[in-house]
Amino acid sequence: MPKLGVNVDHVATLREARGGSEPDPVWAALICEKAGCDSIVAHLREDRRHIDDADVRLLRKKVMTRFNLEMSINPGIVKVARRIGPDQATLVPERRQELTTEGGLSVFKNKRRIAKASGLLLDKGIEVSLFIDPDLREIQATKDIDVGIIEIHTGGYSLAKTRSSVESEYKKIKRAVDFALSLGLVVNAGHGLNYDNTKRIARIPGVHELNIGHSIMSRAVFAGLYKAARDMKELAR
Ligand code: PXP
Repeated sequence: MPKLGVNVDHVATLREARGGSEPDPVWAALICEKAGCDSIVAHLREDRRHIDDADVRLLRKKVMTRFNLEMSINPGIVKVARRIGPDQATLVPERRQELTTEGGLSVFKNKRRIAKASGLLLDKGIEVSLFIDPDLREIQATKDIDVGIIEIHTGGYSLAKTRSSVESEYKKIKRAVDFALSLGLVVNAGHGLNYDNTKRIARIPGVHELNIGHSIMSRAVFAGLYKAARDMKELAR
């Protein structure tokens, strides 16, 4: 059974929409842990558009499961990660203009830069995972630079619209998982997974952890809205 990591960035995005202090992503992390999740994921973006440095410091203090910091290989961010010391760093490509992480890392093309960043993190005892597309060349390149964990980008599968494209994206993921396992890598998966498409990925033998954010937070809005409105109505009365 794969473990579940919950990404709490979306809670910080809502907080930043008002620029205040609520909702608090750290509080969200504690609720997810109480619900049985196995790790908490937060992406410290270079532009600090949602999660900020104070969140990351507090998450490091409060998360009792595992704290997985998603990050680019930007030297400034690597410095912050080395100081904070998450349990794991998941390296992702980052573009300022994107709404969310759009693709996997090009490990093959950027071996030297990625190896340098991961080396600096591993030196501090931080486990390193590379977020990559379900592409065998990228998986081999990860193995070549001695990183032991990958997260396979499931965005193509999640966004596929027709039955045949879902099938072909699923097959790519399955083949990638099998290949990575044959190299002895730990294999995680995530991006765009929701209450309809997750089961199939969870059933792939050997998938260690699923990292999911948007769909959990979207469901949380409606799971909690009735009570939130009732509580305020009570208070107004
Ligand atoms: N894994 C990685 C590497 C990501 O960048 C993201 C998005 O922040 C996720 C998982 C979670 O994706 P989603 O919010 O679509 O569930």
